[in-house]
Amino acid sequence: MNSLLRVGNGAFKATISRGFATAAFPDRKVTVLGAAGGIGQPLALLLKLNPYVTELALYDIAGTPGVAADLSHINSKSRVKGYAGEEELGEALKGSDVIIIPAGVPRKPGMTRDDLFKINAGIVRSLAEACAKHAPGAILNIISNPVNSTVPIATEVLKKAGVHDPRKVLGVTMLDVVRAKTFYAEKAGVDVAKVEVPVVGGHAGITILPLFSQALPTPNADLSPADVDALTKRTQEGGTEVVQAKAGKGSATLSMAYAGALMADACLRGLNGDSDVVECAYVESSVTELPFFASKILLGRNGVEEVYGLGELNDYERAGLKALMPELQASIDKGVKFVSDN
Ligand code: NAD
Ligand code: LMR
Repeated sequence: MNSLLRVGNGAFKATISRGFATAAFPDRKVTVLGAAGGIGQPLALLLKLNPYVTELALYDIAGTPGVAADLSHINSKSRVKGYAGEEELGEALKGSDVIIIPAGVPRKPGMTRDDLFKINAGIVRSLAEACAKHAPGAILNIISNPVNSTVPIATEVLKKAGVHDPRKVLGVTMLDVVRAKTFYAEKAGVDVAKVEVPVVGGHAGITILPLFSQALPTPNADLSPADVDALTKRTQEGGTEVVQAKAGKGSATLSMAYAGALMADACLRGLNGDSDVVECAYVESSVTELPFFASKILLGRNGVEEVYGLGELNDYERAGLKALMPELQASIDKGVKFVSDN
């Protein structure tokens, strides 16, 4: 498959002499909500390079006409259009196959992702209402934090609107996978391009559970329990590491744009009929007793075609799973209650 973004090994491949790949795929419209932001702009750039995207709609409360004009000069095949302000939201959404939502405020040092709930819950609710009205069949990729609550919020909104399809609402946890692969490869001394690490649970602190016992090509890579513990904690606190380094100027944007572009590419490959697209995402699930949970999923023509179980966990991972359940349950409940109370 001639994709610029190779999901399996994370390699970035371009056909240099003739510009970017132009092979014929079905027309696909991808819309980014929050496209003028720290994640939105580099994500839009990566999507402009994706050969599966034929139409790229960039929506924000302001600033998107400039971002779109800038990107539109790139000689890849998709048409780009900027939409600014609520009155243009419907037009931005209409006909979308995939809608990516990084709209909302990021953390500052000392904050948890849950501290963003006050502002971002309302933003995600109103954007999900617009998605339900203008693009009810689209796949949503939700990046806005706290993901553990914003995915239940979007789901409840879609249910209220009568257009809920659990196969089409995904919380983007790909950055946790990207981090786990990077940190694992560094520590284990293996080629990062060959590394796979499932990350399950949710997307905040201890709810992020990397399963290094299932890492490929070398499960656990003979790492000591102390090493695995350190890698687990670093993956769980990867977001905070960036928030602290940015010292008040936001959270991960570039690595998130990369991860968001990988997830969108995976959704598009599934929609286009690839039969082997497996990634981790936070979705409606019956894998545990929680109604939402991140685990490996199979993406296909209808979005999430299958949610896979957790596989065999070791004692360390089983303890991590037990510890994360109450926190994740509380975040899910908070999201559900927000919609029913409002
Ligand atoms: P940012 O402040 O740079 O950009 C956010 C953008 O959203 C801004 O351009 C803003 O105008 C826009 N926005 C606000 N309200 C909107 C609305 N109602 N409609 C459309 N656009 C709206 O922030 P950022 O660094 O891009 O982060 C965005 C969100 O992504 C944050 O909540 C952050 O915590 C989250 N995030 C999630 C992950 C993840 O792994 N899921 C990783 C990094 C960041
Ligand atoms: C991340 O994991 O980088 C994001 O969720 C942003 C954050 O606040 O840490």
